[in-house]
Amino acid sequence: MTRIRQQSAHGMSAGERGSAKRCSRLGDALLAALVLAIAWAALPRDTFAQAPAVPASDAQVALVTGSTSGLGRELALRLGARGHHVIVHGRNEERGAEVVDAINAEGPGSARFYRADLASLADVRRFAETLLADYGRLDLLINNAGFGSAPDERLLTEDGHEYRFQVNYLSTFLLTHILMPRLLDSAPARIVNVSSGAQTPIDFDDVMIEKDFSGRRAYAQSKLAQVMFTLDLAEELEGTGIVVGSLHPATYMPTGMVRRAGVEPRSTIDEGADAVMQLVDSEDYESGQYFSGLRPTRANDQAYDAQARARLKRLSQELTGIRCRMGRCRYVGS
Ligand SMILES: NC(=O)c1ccc[n+]([C@@H]2O[C@H](COP(=O)([O-])OP(=O)(O)OC[C@H]3O[C@@H](n4cnc5c(N)ncnc54)[C@H](OP(=O)(O)O)[C@@H]3O)[C@@H](O)[C@H]2O)c1
Repeated sequence: MTRIRQQSAHGMSAGERGSAKRCSRLGDALLAALVLAIAWAALPRDTFAQAPAVPASDAQVALVTGSTSGLGRELALRLGARGHHVIVHGRNEERGAEVVDAINAEGPGSARFYRADLASLADVRRFAETLLADYGRLDLLINNAGFGSAPDERLLTEDGHEYRFQVNYLSTFLLTHILMPRLLDSAPARIVNVSSGAQTPIDFDDVMIEKDFSGRRAYAQSKLAQVMFTLDLAEELEGTGIVVGSLHPATYMPTGMVRRAGVEPRSTIDEGADAVMQLVDSEDYESGQYFSGLRPTRANDQAYDAQARARLKRLSQELTGIRCRMGRCRYVGS
């Protein structure tokens, strides 16, 4: 191959050689463009970031999962108005772009959107690894994304797990642990898990609810799992400068999941956002505490059962590949 090309170049006139050089430069440029196009096409599309909005060097960085609508959207806007760089997350790119544009236009903070489906553990890993590469600090993690009780149907994720259990709880467990090194580096930092007052004990013989399924039961067990996770995290993170809390933000706010359930709203999104922001700001609560709105309260009894929490933690490790030893958990890669 190489020899044939050399022979034909030697047989050319000066003009032909000039034109061959131009052609070869054009060819190189086309080849480079092709390589770039292939590399761009190979980038994971499901973790989609908009044009970079780089945080100001002194800006705190906050990730609000599920901030394309409802409570998460309001939290993202409030944090942007305080000057945070907000990582806006969800699946809907159009709504994500609307939130990002609103924050970037209003200032003083900035924002960037990432798309990741919490019904895919591979997507969660990719999302978290992208964030670790893109951000040198993470001061606040609000695990807010959630899927409600409607439709009253047993759905499965791409990984074959019961849908609410994975989207509302298991993906949060995985995401939080992968991001933990960045939170630890940024301490003092906060983690807020947006749970709910709807809580049902987990039946460890049927965690994926193959029997007696209802959307409400699936939602409520996933929400209790979040509270149990919060209590475990508080123990693991003692002395690290990371404070963690969970809460029922407000009852029936007018959001997507409440609309889908056909329930008449009873409180405002502002009330829910005030309750979450209290856990972001307050110095007055013990790490691990569960709140209903603005008040500390007691969650379902199973949350305080150390054996039940240990079973949930073991199962979560098995399902996600997170490894915990001597009270410390870490991500060992996919
Ligand atoms: N509304 C209430 O009265 C109430 C009461 C108690 C607790 N809560 C809790 O508050 C939190 C926020 O819910 P909301 O009321 O604001 O509901 P919402 O308007 O339906 O918002 C849910 C958010 O979660 C995201 N999400 C849902 N499924 C996802 C998935 N598979 N992957 C990635 N993101 C996903 C959605 O993003 P995309 O649409 O872009 O995918 C959206 O941004 C939830 O954890 C909920 O359980 C709400």
